[in-house]
Amino acid sequence: MTCCRKLQRYVFFIRQHSTFVSILLTITASVVIFRKELTYQLYIKTLNLEPYENAITIWSSDYHISPIHDLKNILSPLGVRFFDKSLSYSCGQTRTCFSPLRILTRHNGMDYSNEIYSKFYEFYKNQIEMNVVDAFVCFHPVSMCELYMPFNRSIIIISSTRYELSRFEPQQWNKLNENLKKISQNPKNIIAANNLYDAEYIRYFTGINVTLLPSFCNYTNSDYNPTREEFLLAPIHLLYFDALFKKLLKKSLNQYQKHKIKIVSIRSIYRNYKYSDLTNHPAIIHIPYQVSIMSFFEQYRMNIPLLAPSLDLLTTWHYEYGVVNEKTWDQTLHGIRSNSSRIKGVLTNVPDPNNDLDRISIRYWLNFSDFYQWPHIIYYESIDDLIEKLMSTDFRMISEKMKIYNKQVEKTVLKKWQHILNNIKQYSRKFR
Ligand SMILES: *[C@@H]1O[C@H](CO)[C@@H](O)[C@H](O)[C@H]1NC(C)=O
Ligand SMILES: *[C@@H]1O[C@H](CO)[C@@H](O)[C@H](O)[C@H]1NC(C)=O
Ligand SMILES: *[C@@H]1O[C@H](CO)[C@@H](O)[C@H](O)[C@H]1NC(C)=O
Ligand SMILES: *[C@@H]1O[C@H](CO)[C@@H](O)[C@H](O)[C@H]1NC(C)=O
Ligand SMILES: *[C@@H]1O[C@H](CO)[C@@H](O)[C@H](O)[C@H]1NC(C)=O
Repeated sequence: MTCCRKLQRYVFFIRQHSTFVSILLTITASVVIFRKELTYQLYIKTLNLEPYENAITIWSSDYHISPIHDLKNILSPLGVRFFDKSLSYSCGQTRTCFSPLRILTRHNGMDYSNEIYSKFYEFYKNQIEMNVVDAFVCFHPVSMCELYMPFNRSIIIISSTRYELSRFEPQQWNKLNENLKKISQNPKNIIAANNLYDAEYIRYFTGINVTLLPSFCNYTNSDYNPTREEFLLAPIHLLYFDALFKKLLKKSLNQYQKHKIKIVSIRSIYRNYKYSDLTNHPAIIHIPYQVSIMSFFEQYRMNIPLLAPSLDLLTTWHYEYGVVNEKTWDQTLHGIRSNSSRIKGVLTNVPDPNNDLDRISIRYWLNFSDFYQWPHIIYYESIDDLIEKLMSTDFRMISEKMKIYNKQVEKTVLKKWQHILNNIKQYSRKFR
């Protein structure tokens, strides 16, 4: 019986080398148990701080990879350095998974306890990376910046979605509002949003005048170059409406058969699209599920002509079907269309943004969406009108106009950031 003989030989070997084996096991176990600590120590011991010492340095631990990726693209050429400690599951896409972070984790960061809050400050208040940090930036969630308040550095908040994320309970939400007011009162900080909807939304609940700092998304390295004939259809997240829209679209298309208009959904032809895949098509049709999304910024900056329902049509679709189903957290998380917010706003004569059952409120707030604020978007009033627009629009000319507008945006975005950087520098201990 060879198996048992083999086993005997192993047992014999282990007996002979028992000290060696147990040392090996102990080492392996320690590495597994203290993996985080060891990685951190190794990182700290090998970190070269010199490049950070004369550069404005920004700290980020965010759950969304794109806004910080965008910011790094805008500011790195200006000499700004980053500690980007992403908490997102998608961090692999931007290679930001590897910068070690203590106390805060992907699991406790969204809704950290008071204990984590204190421990984080205790750990980092005199830590070598933190000592070279001049500013913190928070996109998603905004509440991450509450954690940084004790550090007495500049705080840059740039809301990219409804800012009460992770502070849904009225008590937490009100506390967040108080903290935002405190932050906004210090001239070394800035409260901004990357889209007008969120700027107005924060103002509605806090009275704070929020700066508009649009995303720039220059990282695509792609430009409009239509070589294919299919129009792309962006994803519709409400399944029921997706089916309805496609049915109505088919019906309309049948009336225009001789014109051979081809519309394909992005996901059906590209499992994972590259930016340069999108630029090959004449235009992208949107039925928005959200009021501001990074891919809309990206597509606009690539000068790809974009079609969206008119404000009247989207108001009707949202009123009847709840099409913009990621506009409120109630609908995003619970599938519920609420008639009010959980807390009161401070602006009078403005309808409640979370009253999703009232046409006037829906229309008032949808108007702040990116697609009604940016020029050169092509609006359709109905599905038949969409087909008409696809046939009659000079998309190359639209793209040229977008390009000119994007150049202007580049200038204003850089100017705003230059101003913010000067402000950070002025208040930083490092630059005294
Ligand atoms: C916001 O801006 C408006 C108009 O510029 C001004 O009247 C108001 O006082 C500002 N509010 C705050 C809180 O700064
Ligand atoms: C945007 O990217 C292009 C090249 O892709 C580059 O020439 C330009 O300087 C970039 N603009 C900014 C503001 O980074
Ligand atoms: C919202 O609905 C509740 C009952 O579901 C009702 O009591 C309340 O008056 C409504 N509020 C508004 C602002 O319509
Ligand atoms: C939409 O918003 C703009 C400001 O960006 C405003 O001038 C316009 O009156 C608004 N339209 C509606 C229908 O509310
Ligand atoms: C906070 O930093 C500023 C410099 O930006 C400094 O003047 C002030 O004394 C600091 N406050 C505390 C409490 O350390």
